[in-house]
Amino acid sequence: MCGIVACVTSKKSDFAADACFKGLEYLEYRGYDSAGISLIVDGKFETKKAVGKLESLKKEIKSKPFSKSNIAAGHTRWATHGSPSIENAHPHISTNGRVALVHNGIIENAAQIKSEKLQNIKLTGNTDTQIVAEYLSMLLEETGNLQNAMTKLVKQIDGSWAFVAMDVKDNSKIVCSRHNSPLVIGKGESENFIASDVIAFVEYTKNAVEIKQDQIAVIEWDNIKLFNFAGEQIDYANQEYKIDWNIDAAKKGGYSSFMEKEIREEPAAVRNTIYGRGSQDGRFGLDRLDFDENYLKLIDKITVVACGTAAHSGYVARFAIEHWCKIPVEVEFAHEFRYRDPIVNSKTLVIAISQSGETMDTLQAVRYAKQQGAKTLAIVNTLGSALDRECDAVLYTYAGREIAVASTKAFIAQITACYILGLYLAEVRGNLFLDEIESKIRELKTLPDKLAKVLQSYDDIKAFAKKEKNTESVLFLGRHIGYPIALEGALKLKEIAYIHSEGFAAGELKHGPIAIIEKGQLVFVIVPPKNDRAEVHSKVLANIEEIISRGGRIVVIAEEGDNSLSEKLEKGGIEKIFFRPKTSILFSAVLDIVPLQIFACSVALFKGLDIDMPRNLAKSVTVE
Ligand code: AGP
Repeated sequence: MCGIVACVTSKKSDFAADACFKGLEYLEYRGYDSAGISLIVDGKFETKKAVGKLESLKKEIKSKPFSKSNIAAGHTRWATHGSPSIENAHPHISTNGRVALVHNGIIENAAQIKSEKLQNIKLTGNTDTQIVAEYLSMLLEETGNLQNAMTKLVKQIDGSWAFVAMDVKDNSKIVCSRHNSPLVIGKGESENFIASDVIAFVEYTKNAVEIKQDQIAVIEWDNIKLFNFAGEQIDYANQEYKIDWNIDAAKKGGYSSFMEKEIREEPAAVRNTIYGRGSQDGRFGLDRLDFDENYLKLIDKITVVACGTAAHSGYVARFAIEHWCKIPVEVEFAHEFRYRDPIVNSKTLVIAISQSGETMDTLQAVRYAKQQGAKTLAIVNTLGSALDRECDAVLYTYAGREIAVASTKAFIAQITACYILGLYLAEVRGNLFLDEIESKIRELKTLPDKLAKVLQSYDDIKAFAKKEKNTESVLFLGRHIGYPIALEGALKLKEIAYIHSEGFAAGELKHGPIAIIEKGQLVFVIVPPKNDRAEVHSKVLANIEEIISRGGRIVVIAEEGDNSLSEKLEKGGIEKIFFRPKTSILFSAVLDIVPLQIFACSVALFKGLDIDMPRNLAKSVTVE
């Protein structure tokens, strides 16, 4: 997830560059591993870039100030393709010096465009954006008009994008387009702005125009035109609105917390984690592999090491990888791993899962595993982090920067990355045929839309949380892949609402936990899909009966169309059933966790707690 801001003004001054830089400062929450700004000055681009936080770019500008200009575009990067570096920082300038481009998203067919359209061009960096900048400049040379070039471009690319482009030969206008990534226009007095988020320009103007999905905008200092991808002009009156947020609220996209915002970003987090990986023949690949791929055929065990939420994603992964790859997978809390004298050797693949990539417990576990001769693979959300650098292979989750201490979208992206890894291993080791892998990839690609459907029940779950905000104890039950989701649901409620909550395997109920069920005890139960594991489904229903008969109050997460419990809903015993779209049991974890995340976030909201910075916790535990 990156931050874009651009400005076109009525006259040359310092304003355009200053407004861009200030806007980037407000957008730094969207990512900050590199940043840059380009202006047009006397028919040439003037560009400054720096790696690291915006402070580095500020020093760069201070040491050699920008010339005066009427037009500027800036970008702060959260690396998804290509490590943080000056070459990979935006704005990207085409090799013929004609186009400057900034981009937020992932272009899935960039490699194909490079091989088919740019055979004779030597690119310095290795990002998808650079390929697009190059191709856009070719289309501009062909059409002579940046708007027409953009219209042609958007018909030939796949993936997600918010593009903002400038033509060095025409400093009167900025051309932008969006598909799945956000972009909004700010209408000023004698200037207009474009940004990923209104926060970038809200101090200059509260008059905004949303750029909707699959639209192109041509923005001059005193004129705004919107077009669809067919090139037809659009009346945007119904897309105009007044910003009524303050700066702090704007940073959270107008939501109550970064956690809520990040829950709502989960469809994009899954989409971005999937796209850009499947090559033309449907193969998934890793982002980096420093050893011979054939080595993966020799491993006889996988050990996952992680902490907290990341460990729960490992428990989910185990179901998928064992089922597809027929290889034993053990999941260990990283802080326990090396003290139990684990059996680790050159035939073990140790997978470290981490959002921050800086968790010391996990790092130490990886270092121990390497000493024992194991190969290590990181599933990590932060490019350039210690885990990213120290492991022998890496698979990135493209969830974008996660700010709230409680991990939500990164968790969903970690599970998605584990599925991708499982399908990749199954293909390399020959456990599944390509057509079987492709059918699972097809189902995987339905998850973003299914997640969006679950999010439609956000307010319903929030209303239920308001009713339950004073509850003092909540239990979470699940079987099979629902068990780690029950653990994760309990962790969320614990860490942000400070409520004693426990997740456990539903089958354990009769072996002890049922003793604590008393009248009024709130219990969430994740009911597995009826058709995928009928036996597991019926056993969970039996567990629900056992709880109801002891006065427990049940909340069910179940698949749409499963009316096994509707009668109980009417006759009492079941408080609520939150349905989620159908999917196979292995993929159901991605959907079942969302109502539990929303519940925890909402209870904390109604309790007036600091959702994003819960007491005693840090976003990354960098000490053992
Ligand atoms: C999750 O909500 C918690 N913040 C915590 O359990 C976290 O998942 C754990 O500390 C691991 O962090 P990592 O993913 O950055 O390694």
